[in-house]
Amino acid sequence: MSEMRRKLVVGNWKMHGSLTENEALLGALKAGLASAHGFQGAVCVPFPYLAQAQALLTGSRISWGAQDVSERAKGAYTGEVCGAMLKDFGCHYVIVGHSERRTLHGEDNALVARKMRAAQAQGLLPIVCVGETLAQRSSGATEAVVCEQLDAVIAPAGVQSLAQAVVAYEPVWAIGTGKTATPDEAQSVHAVIRARIAVIDANVAAGLQILYGGSVKGSNAMALFKMPDIDGALVGGAALDATEFLAICQAAGASH
Ligand code: PGA
Repeated sequence: MSEMRRKLVVGNWKMHGSLTENEALLGALKAGLASAHGFQGAVCVPFPYLAQAQALLTGSRISWGAQDVSERAKGAYTGEVCGAMLKDFGCHYVIVGHSERRTLHGEDNALVARKMRAAQAQGLLPIVCVGETLAQRSSGATEAVVCEQLDAVIAPAGVQSLAQAVVAYEPVWAIGTGKTATPDEAQSVHAVIRARIAVIDANVAAGLQILYGGSVKGSNAMALFKMPDIDGALVGGAALDATEFLAICQAAGASH
């Protein structure tokens, strides 16, 4: 089954970068990946740097995207950025429902589902993030939490909507903490996610790329990518370091 899915490595830059730093980082990634193959690579940059990403990455094998999108198409929504604007700058992906948006900006499952559909309406591929907190894991609620987050995006739009999406499993306790889920811990949740979808539509489940996120780096990427249901990574901190990000991409290319 996993043969039909390519590995995907996405950098989530969060609120980091500057024109000067980005130029150096993207230049290093382009050079490092020029002859790489067997995986897809992308960076999700802050909104103001989308034009720079488009200028520097067009024609390269790295695609780009944003970290959030408005649920609305346009209008009086000060500070918001809609999917059509992201499309204008050549975005391929947009992250929706990252745990930092859920926690710090009060995004709930219903809003994440609406953002996913807003992205898809513009032909963007949403990377839908799910994951449990440490308290939820400790109380044995991991599966229930992740399935509830997943069901919330499936319910309004149908499971077919996941044919045009990527899912990222990011345990909140592993994000930015240096604590990675073990390959077995991650695999077992990825398998739950795929099985939940397979009950409704086996083809969608088999084709869905499910990324792992949470303290992925060059040294732990390969063991994660060897797992049958881990189809790549959503990378935060290590995506700001060209050597680390390239090492993760190389592991993706070598892992199948
Ligand atoms: P991290 O972040 O790699 O720094 O843990 C991952 C994420 O938040 O997407």
